[in-house]
Amino acid sequence: MRVGVIGLGIMGAPMARNLLRAGHAVTVHGRTPARVEALVSAGATVADSPAAVARDVDAVITMLPDTPDVEAVVAGPAGILAGARPGLLAIDMSTIAPAAARTLAGRAAAAGVALLDAPVSGGEQGAIAGSLSIMVGGDAAACERAKPIFAALGRQVTYMGGPGQGQMTKLVNQVVGATTLAAVAEGVVLAARAGLDPAAVVRALDAGAASSWMLREQAPRMQRNDFAPGFMVRLQQKDLRLALAAAAQLGVQLPTTAVVHLLFAALEAQGDSNLGTQALVKALEALSSKKDAP
Ligand SMILES: NC(=O)c1ccc[n+]([C@@H]2O[C@H](COP(=O)([O-])OP(=O)(O)OC[C@H]3O[C@@H](n4cnc5c(N)ncnc54)[C@H](OP(=O)(O)O)[C@@H]3O)[C@@H](O)[C@H]2O)c1
Repeated sequence: MRVGVIGLGIMGAPMARNLLRAGHAVTVHGRTPARVEALVSAGATVADSPAAVARDVDAVITMLPDTPDVEAVVAGPAGILAGARPGLLAIDMSTIAPAAARTLAGRAAAAGVALLDAPVSGGEQGAIAGSLSIMVGGDAAACERAKPIFAALGRQVTYMGGPGQGQMTKLVNQVVGATTLAAVAEGVVLAARAGLDPAAVVRALDAGAASSWMLREQAPRMQRNDFAPGFMVRLQQKDLRLALAAAAQLGVQLPTTAVVHLLFAALEAQGDSNLGTQALVKALEALSSKKDAP
């Protein structure tokens, strides 16, 4: 298929590469020349606006930071809908507000464009390996049309229902993921203070009931103070804000999520917004007194 990709960051760039590898013709648009050039070297074509991408392709993916970015790129003056012809498939794989996803799907439908919300889980590693979990909301037939694209990007595609339901599922994912990350960070701080062998702790826990992706992937990074971003603190905070707002609207309390959101706020306050989420361990270390290991 001819596929457009807009948003060439930590996630979008490796996703575009996987589409090229799978034999799709890929057109990209980005704001940062170096990111665009890297993909052109890998075989992509470049377009100078989202509207121009939409004119060239059968389907266009957006992988952008936040709700206003997606609104601008989809529905702004030189946005996807401005260049779209009826029948275009648009797939927003960013994490944004479910209500905004519903509104955008309505505006797209009025232009004859099927817009799916299809956020993902699996992190930078999942984007590179093409092993993401893809959570889809929108028209079921459009989801079927998107399957050849999803096959290049992910291992699991789950159709969740109408517009916004993919985003709602992703917010549930973020609640579970962020609270698990915080539990892993607490375990890492306790194990270090107790003088336990870092690698042995992860091995032991990973073979038992406390095993998780967060433990396996993030505990070793926390232990070696590697805070390079796979998933940035500021994007995690965006997701937790969205989750807390959606929960409040539904009358649901998320006390553990609220505490984790505050711990991340401590990181943001000290200028760590662009670190990876595993930097949460720094906030927990700052709360611990300076006792020696036994
Ligand atoms: N990282 C993860 O582990 C992960 C996992 C699952 C889901 N997500 C979600 O995926 C989305 C992207 O995350 P990411 O980590 O890839 O973020 P990122 O590295 O910040 O990438 C976002 C990209 O969007 C581009 N962009 C922003 N506004 C644009 C516009 N108007 N036109 C064209 N490009 C624009 C940025 O361009 P510039 O470089 O020019 O600023 C940047 O390259 C977010 O919604 C995030 O929550 C991330």
